Amino acid sequence: MNQLFRRKSYRANENSSGLLRVLGVWDIVFFGIAAIIGAGSFSSLGEAVFRGGPGVIILYIICGFACGFTALCYAEFASRIPTAGSAYTYAYASFGELIAWIIGWALIMEYSFGNIYVAFSWSDYFTSFMARVGVHIPDFLTCSYPEAKKAFFGGSQNKELLNAWKNAPVIGNLKIILDVPALVINGLITWLVYRGVRESKNFNNALVLMKLAVIVLIILVGVAYINVDNWTPLNPETKVSSFMPNGFAGVMSAVSGVFFAYIGFDALSVLSEETKNPQKNLPRGMIISLVLCTVIYIILTLVLTGMVDYRRFDGIGDPLSFIFERSNANLPWMELTVSFVAIIAITTVLLVFQMGQPRIWYAMSRDGLMPKRFMRIHPKYNTPSYATVATGIVVGLPILFTDKSFILDFTSIGTIFAFVLVCGGVLMLPSKKKLPGRFHLPYINSKIIFPVLFLGGLAFFYWWQPVFFNTLMDWKDPAEGEFRISMFFFILINIGLCVLAVVKNLSLIPLIGLSSCLYLLTGMSHNNWFWFLLWFAIGLVIYFSYGFSHSKLNNDLNGDLN
Ligand code: ALA
Repeated sequence: MNQLFRRKSYRANENSSGLLRVLGVWDIVFFGIAAIIGAGSFSSLGEAVFRGGPGVIILYIICGFACGFTALCYAEFASRIPTAGSAYTYAYASFGELIAWIIGWALIMEYSFGNIYVAFSWSDYFTSFMARVGVHIPDFLTCSYPEAKKAFFGGSQNKELLNAWKNAPVIGNLKIILDVPALVINGLITWLVYRGVRESKNFNNALVLMKLAVIVLIILVGVAYINVDNWTPLNPETKVSSFMPNGFAGVMSAVSGVFFAYIGFDALSVLSEETKNPQKNLPRGMIISLVLCTVIYIILTLVLTGMVDYRRFDGIGDPLSFIFERSNANLPWMELTVSFVAIIAITTVLLVFQMGQPRIWYAMSRDGLMPKRFMRIHPKYNTPSYATVATGIVVGLPILFTDKSFILDFTSIGTIFAFVLVCGGVLMLPSKKKLPGRFHLPYINSKIIFPVLFLGGLAFFYWWQPVFFNTLMDWKDPAEGEFRISMFFFILINIGLCVLAVVKNLSLIPLIGLSSCLYLLTGMSHNNWFWFLLWFAIGLVIYFSYGFSHSKLNNDLNGDLN
């Protein structure tokens, strides 16, 4: 049993304190915005708005809150071991091999599968940009087969997807529908990463300013086209006008798209070794960037849902340029500008994720948990060449066979799961000696505060959304069935956490992070859980059939015994 939790110790020669401490709080904020704002804000916002209506704003606040607490846990993790790395590296040092493997496996969902969604979004903006400059790519070459099929048989109103299904050429019995721009950009990015690209702070800052400038422009121009009635649309079934036309259940069903927009802040913790006075600047920088992004998302949602009825965002992958289309605000110059900036902004996210994945595999391979070829370094370009090509394939193949919403759900559930492990893990860390110049998570005893917050939150929720609560309690009503079981487990686990908080005096910040991430998991549908658990099971089979015996720690131990 102990073997499963064997830990890696990091030696002094792996210490990265040779890095210069040059980053101030605003540098962290800029890195944060660079990693966070991408396909989530430019694309998945559309699907989120379609599901939840204007009320999806509430979910942006909940996700921002959960991510803020998780960010602090990441910072604590990063400050514990003397080497820069990912959650995988931290987990290996703190909790041992099995948890590290599980986190590494979940990170594949964040990085590789996340990039599938980002590539789809890139394609949506590229297609709309090309159409605006007069080049119309046939619809069956700009979306995936399952997406078009789902739209056709699911009664979607999305014209492009319906056209793709109706007009696709047929070979044998198979309709030829594939997202060519997404495949091409994945190939190009893989090639760039293979050749070795360098990140540059100035280039990064220029891109962030450009992203922010276009978002401010969208808001300033869009405000003039807002029709406030759109903020309380009429539900045709209940005949009630509401900020949440599909109820709170509708808002919660948008959790994947909303959460995806926050992914990326976890990458900031790796900067702890390069930050001046990290104890102050790192948490401040992370929290400021999350607050700024939350504010941006709230305003963007208000503008989008004010300009266009939320129901029209069904299947729209380029919502920020869609609102300026002829059938909406009819501002071609805005449509063109937004599409152009979105293409660049989304490309940078692709690049960051595509560079991150091979480096995690490299670390796992170095530890013996993945085959040695994943640490092969290209003799000329000095990049992890095999792992980079493998990432390109892992991202590229599913572009042919999956649809956007499936991949969005899959990425989000995997990443939230990794966050749950990180927050839960920080709760289990022993207290440490305070060292000057390192970040320390402040300890606040949760004994009284957590049970009060949880029970108070539950009572508030019951008062605010009695219908949602009552349907959850009504086991015969299938309407809310998707969320009922996970909500039941959420409440049960939290009661357990309240008891632990009282008995063990747990630290409040990671406890709130854990509880709020668990809450986000309640928004996942049964289908998501099924695929996620399958993925998880495959990961465990691979670990026990390969990683466990090939692990470097296993071999070192056996070597020591011989
Ligand atoms: N948050 C990142 C994005 O939206 C993943 O693209």
